[in-house]
Amino acid sequence: MKMATPPTLQTLSKHKYHEAYRVYSRLSNRKKSLVEWFRGNTHLLADAIAVSMSQDTELKLLSVGGGDGHVERQILSCLRDSLGYDKMNVTIVEPEASSIQRFQDVVAKEPLCGVNFDWRCQPFQKYAKSEEAMSDKFHIITCISSLYFLGDLDEALTNLYGRLEDGGILLLGVSQGGIGWGKLVGYLRTKLESSPLFISSSEVQNACKNLNMPVSKMHVVKTYLDVSMCLDKPNDQLSQDGQALLDFMTRREDFVRQAPPDLRDELLRFLGSECSERGPAGEFILDESTVLVVVSHKG
Ligand SMILES: C[S@@+](CC[C@H](N)C(=O)[O-])C[C@H]1O[C@@H](n2cnc3c(N)ncnc32)[C@H](O)[C@@H]1O
Repeated sequence: MKMATPPTLQTLSKHKYHEAYRVYSRLSNRKKSLVEWFRGNTHLLADAIAVSMSQDTELKLLSVGGGDGHVERQILSCLRDSLGYDKMNVTIVEPEASSIQRFQDVVAKEPLCGVNFDWRCQPFQKYAKSEEAMSDKFHIITCISSLYFLGDLDEALTNLYGRLEDGGILLLGVSQGGIGWGKLVGYLRTKLESSPLFISSSEVQNACKNLNMPVSKMHVVKTYLDVSMCLDKPNDQLSQDGQALLDFMTRREDFVRQAPPDLRDELLRFLGSECSERGPAGEFILDESTVLVVVSHKG
């Protein structure tokens, strides 16, 4: 039997993506949960680091896709306190100039004493090929919810791991597979020409195993997205936020109006009945938990 050709729907423009991302950020507790997790648990990461350094050595950290810095600032502050180093040199590789600006605003408002920043406004792939980055090595590399953008998984992991000092750690934050968000992306993969980028924690674990990179710890941070706005009204009456959230999840422009009605109705049914659960007030909650995978460099 011939497979139905997936409809060609316009991919979200960069501008629309950022608008939709802001709506997503308001309706998700991801940043808050990650920040709280790092506040309470950074000592678990510090324990995994096995670098031998004297107190006056500079700790070097690379943040890949640091975004607007709300999560990363917390990681830096907690790591600095847990490890007890007075000097940290932090390289931020982030291609979005507006995000770098917001990150700089965050650290200007709440300065991190002893932390020196080196801002690189470029994709990691470009940074990795630059001459000055060739020999850069780090004690800690963080890649929180940005591994999806680095192209081929094995290549990206090999590149990141190769930049670690002996005994250093690579901290990867990726989606937990098999639950709400993962189920939704799996479904979209079968329905759209290209679906949102997704790498599950088990895919990362398997890749690390094959590449002989030891995963020393995995921590699950429960995070949820309230998708009620996409489901609580007939689709022709959805609020602006509801429409933007659907655009964010499908990475398509004006999904509710542009998608063929069958696909739209099926997606909304799938989102409500297969991916989300009812919260205490009857809201539809999508589980989008993050797994923090700690890869240790064999020192
Ligand atoms: C979902 S956000 C995560 C931001 C932040 N780490 C956090 O957890 O809040 C993903 C980030 O990766 C950045 N990004 C996209 N492509 C990238 C690339 N090729 N190299 C590095 N970062 C990239 C995006 O601009 C965005 O800031």
